[in-house]
Order: sequence, then structure tokens, then C-alpha cells
Amino acid sequence: MTGKYESAWREAKETPEAFWGKAAELIEWETPYDAVFTPAPAADYRWFAGGRLNTCFNAVDRHVRDGRADQTALIYDSPLTGSQQKLTYCELKDRVAMFAGALRACGVETGDRVVIYMPMVPETAIAMLACARIGAVHSVVFGGFAVAELAARIEDAKPKVVVAASCGLEPGRVVNYKPLLDAAIDQSAHKPDRCIILQRPQSTASMQEGRDIEWQQALEGVEPADCVPVDAGHPLYVLYTSGTTGRPKGVVRDNGGHAVALIWSMQNVYGCQPGETYWAASDVGWVVGHSYIVYGPLLNGSTTILYEGKPVGTPDAGAFWRVIAEHGVSTFFTAPTAIRAIRQQDPDASLLKQYDLSKLRTVFLAGERCDPPTLEWSREKIGVPVVDHWWQTETGWPIVANCVGLEQLPIKSGSPTRPVPGWTVAVVNEKGEDVPANATGAIVCRLPLPPGALNTLWHDDDRFRRDYLKRYAGCYQTGDAGYIDEDGYLFVMSRTDDVINTAGHRLSTGAMEEVVASHPAVAECAVVGVADALKGQVPVGLIVLKAGVEAKQGEIEREVIALVRDKIGPVAAFKTCQIVARLPKTRSGKILRKTIRAIIDAEPYQQPATIEDPAVLVELERLFRTRETA
Ligand code: COA
Ligand code: AMP
Repeated sequence: MTGKYESAWREAKETPEAFWGKAAELIEWETPYDAVFTPAPAADYRWFAGGRLNTCFNAVDRHVRDGRADQTALIYDSPLTGSQQKLTYCELKDRVAMFAGALRACGVETGDRVVIYMPMVPETAIAMLACARIGAVHSVVFGGFAVAELAARIEDAKPKVVVAASCGLEPGRVVNYKPLLDAAIDQSAHKPDRCIILQRPQSTASMQEGRDIEWQQALEGVEPADCVPVDAGHPLYVLYTSGTTGRPKGVVRDNGGHAVALIWSMQNVYGCQPGETYWAASDVGWVVGHSYIVYGPLLNGSTTILYEGKPVGTPDAGAFWRVIAEHGVSTFFTAPTAIRAIRQQDPDASLLKQYDLSKLRTVFLAGERCDPPTLEWSREKIGVPVVDHWWQTETGWPIVANCVGLEQLPIKSGSPTRPVPGWTVAVVNEKGEDVPANATGAIVCRLPLPPGALNTLWHDDDRFRRDYLKRYAGCYQTGDAGYIDEDGYLFVMSRTDDVINTAGHRLSTGAMEEVVASHPAVAECAVVGVADALKGQVPVGLIVLKAGVEAKQGEIEREVIALVRDKIGPVAAFKTCQIVARLPKTRSGKILRKTIRAIIDAEPYQQPATIEDPAVLVELERLFRTRETA
């Protein structure tokens, strides 16, 4: 007998119009679409063409109208400030409508961009929803990014308004956002007309007259704004993500496909019902935060949690269990690195036993490869199914998962399970041919991608086609490599490019190399991601100094580390920098990064046939072996 998962996957594959048409009924459309799917070559197909809707209306207003006015929509739980706040759907609607009015008063119109540089506070979600309400396009920048990354995003998105907070909070430290914002605007050729600043009590930002306005002041005397229906294909947001170069890629998310895919996934992937509490312990600056802190739970009429804290140290390794118990979380989403951090501090999970987790049904893990010991430990200690699932900023929602809302399939450690209905996943060789079961290759998704996935990059369609569509005809290239076993389970093993994953954060070693190379003493450099027991991977920089440079021991290394922190941000976790005499290269001058990584990780490797001078590898081995035994 075919199970519910199998038949849903087949239906989505064989009759996508019927499948997604049914899913689209979960959303309220201002104007019905002409067609569920409009085919076209490459990625020019369209979902829900002709349809008009408003994402904020679907996420907030209609729940107020339909009886959820007094249900809690959003819980702000902040161990870092020692405070909590709850907003009902009705209160959320009022605050969003007012802030949308404030944006309007600052000149923001449908289609204008708004950059949001904010920590994990309710105002961040309010600002995002307010943009959606008036059809403006938000671009949220993660608070752990510093000046250069913020400037690159301002430069590319060209926002009319930037919404920022005076500061973010990290354990033991206040991160002043405003000076970073001022410096980023200075650096960017594009200047926003206005900056709306949320003054937090932990730090008061100084304001630039004529440009900056405080959040409360921006609300004074404004009219609440109504929802503006937009085309299904109208951009809801641009979210920048790391590519192989220093220039981030602006992933464009539409309104129609996104709303349909997210609400479908809430119920069928996550098995979370309206009225239940869903918690994604991520940050609004990442795609997980967009999809499953803000839009997914709210579209579904669930309760969502914005958690301003860490898995450990705020105050202890029981923090996650406290939040789950206190707010009755039924579906919990986090990154394997957070579980590893908890396990490191509380290996027996003794803190967990203090809490009542009886409402918790499923734990989902994503953001990086989940190592089997982490999965096993959490399953044993938490006592509910722990499900790895795989997706990306580009796709916006899970590609491969155990769809517990449809039917829970057997869990295999190390695999995020099988493709979610709507996704056709294949593993291919260099020529783009499917490889046999269990053989490793590049992971691709066959076109068309389902609703919600990107279909361009912000103002850079050429790069979209070049980076994602060109390499394998008829396929979207995910940038990941792995294999599919004989039961159709996918195993994601590594990236095929220079992107690394540090503590669940996606970072570009290329971007770090650009910063390292800008140090006046550095002739050339390589940054690679090496294995780390807690964070999965961490970056390590190798630098070759310019001839004649003299410095005290460790001085240049410290300066380079500080430069990366200053330009990219603390989240880069760039803490190891090593001076070397030479870098290993091919005869054509290409740096052998894979080989460097293997040497640092003490993994076996084959000396590349094209190597310029094998002696460099011997030097590197000596250096890193000495370091380890030192
Ligand atoms: N604003 C400013 N700085 C930030 C920041 C933010 N929003 N987020 C992180 N940072 C800083 C940290 O304070 C740290 O600074 P430090 O070098 O001075 O210590 C640095 O960036 C590195 O942060 P991180 O890699 O997160 O390490 P950590 O030691 O602070 O915490 C974990 C380790 C595992 C607890 C933490 O990484 C974690 O919770 N990870 C889960 C990530 C996640 O949910 N990802 C989303 C995908 S689902
Ligand atoms: P991001 O765009 O930040 O969500 O990062 C996406 C990348 O993180 C993917 O392309 C993978 O390399 C990695 N990733 C995310 N989830 C998983 C997972 N469950 N297993 C393995 N890798 C993952």
C-alpha cells in the first residue's frame, strides 16, 4: 500500500497544478490566479500568475477576523534582558498597521526596499510584516554582520529607509548597531532617505539630524496603513546569502508561492496546527528566521517565539528546555551546533529533567550537516522524534525532510530523509548524468522548482542563471554534494564551493579572503573551513607576507583576525591565522584549498597531479603537525 508521503510526492510530481492548487486554498487571494502553473523554459515558469494577495493580511489580519484576535501570535522571550512580552494577533495587527503607516510617512511605497538591521526583538517582526503590508520589499541583515557586509547589502538593495536598533545583545556585551550602520552608510554609494532607530534601554544611539528618526517618533500622528494587494510574483523580500565571492547574493522571494509553500509546509512537513506553538531557535537575519519565526507560523495561525538568548550561558544549558516547557512548544527547530553546545555542557541532560516537555512532539534540525551522534543523543534525551532536514536560503523551505505532518518515515541517522513533495532531487556526475544509488555526486533539483523557491537574484538575473542553472541542464545546482541510498534517502555530505557552515551560519571563505588580502602586509592568502567539534566548521587563514615585511611575533596575525571581525563581523568566527612561506598551488596558479583543508584536518589526501611544487605540502604538514603536538 502506498503511504501518505509517497502518494503526496507522486501527486505533486505528476499533477502539480492540482496539488499546489489545493495548497493555495489555504491562502486568501484578493484576486484569484489565472493559472496555478505557467510553464516556460529554464526558470521562467511562474506560479499563481495573475493572482493578487497580501502576505501580511494572510499572516495577521485574517486571523483577527476569523477568531484568533485574542490568541497569542508572538512571544518575545529574552533571557538576555530578563524580559518577556506577548502579543495577540489583534495587538500584532495594530502595531504592524501603525508601523506600516510610519514607513509610508517616511516615503516608502510599494516596491521600495527597506533594510532591517535589528536584533531578536518583536519590532523586527513588526517591521518585516509592515513592509509586507504595503508591498515594500524588506531586506533583513543579520546582527552579527559588521560594516562591510551591511554596506554591501545597502549598496545592492538601495533602500529608501533603514530600520535599525540602537544595539543588539550578546552574553556579557552590548553590540552597538548604530555606529556600524553609520559607517556602512558612509561606505555605500547609495544613501537611504531615512533611518528609523529603535532606542533600546541598554544603549542610546546618537541620531543624525534630518536623516534619523526614533521609532516612537516615527509613529507619532501617522495613520495605520491597510494591506496593499500585490501580484503573486511581486517580491516580498531580498535576503542576501554567501556565495563564493565577497559579493553576497540577493535571493528574491515572491509573495504568492512563498505564502502557499510555507503554510503547506507548516502542516505537512512540520505537522504543526493552527493554535499550536512553534519555535525556531534561529535568528530573523537568516532564512530560518524569515520562514519559520515570522511568516510560516503566522500564516498558519500558530504562535511563534522570538528568543533573544543562546542555547547555553543564558543562564545555562537548560535554556531551550525552559522555553519549550514554559510556552508549551509542540514543534521545535534548531541547529545541530546548538544541541552540541548543550550536550557539551550537560552531557546527561540533567537540566532537561527539570522541565515538563509533554507538549513537544517533534524536534527539527537544519542549517548544517547533522552528525549521527548529535542526532542520537537528542533523540535519546528528549524522547521525541528528532528529524534532520535539508534546505537553503535559496529554496526558502525544506527540500528534503521527514514530513511528519504527512507520515513519519523511518529515521536514518545522517540523512534528512526523502524529498519533500514538490521537489525532485537527483545526484549527478560531472556530465550531469544520474549516478547509481550510494554513489557520491553533486546534488541537484530538477526544474521547475516548487512554489516559494527563488527564481532570480536581486537585479542580477545573469548571476542567477550562471550560478544555479548553467552547470547542469534542466536542473538547479544546490552547491551541495552527497548521495542517495537504495531507499531514496539523501545524505548531504559537503559543499562543492567555497561556502562553509560555522555554527549553523553560512559564510563565504572567498569574502574572508578578500578582507585578509586587504591587509597591507599580506601578499596572498587562503581561507579554508576546517572541522570543529562544536561549530561543525571554522575558518582558518593562511597568509604569505609581502617581501621585507617585519613584525613582532603574532602581531600581523592578530591584526588580520581583527580586520575580519571588523569588516565581516564576529559571526565569521575567524580566530586562527597562520603565516606560511608559500601556498600550495597548481602549475596554473590555482590555490589548492581542498588539499590545505585535508592537511589541517589530518585527513588522507592525494597529491594533485598538477601541483607546482610538492615540497609546499611537506612544509604545511610539518607546520600543522607541530602545532597539534605543541
Ligand atoms: N550580533 C552580534 N554578534 C553576534 C551575533 C549577533 N546577532 N550572533 C553571534 N554573534 C557573535 C558572538 O557573540 C560571537 O562573538 P565572540 O567571538 O566575541 O564570542 C561570534 O559572533 C560567533 O558567534 P557564534 O558562532 O554563534 O558562537 P557562540 O560561541 O556565540 O555560540 C552557539 C555558539 C553554538 C551557542 C551558537 O552558535 C548557536 O546558538 N548556534 C545556532 C545557530 C543557529 O541557530 N543558526 C541558524 C540556522 S537554523
Ligand atoms: P543556508 O542558506 O544558510 O540555509 O545554508 C544552506 C546550506 O547549509 C546548505 O546548502 C547545506 O550546505 C547546509 N545545510 C543546511 N541544512 C543541512 C542539513 N540538514 N544537512 C546538511 N547540510 C545542511
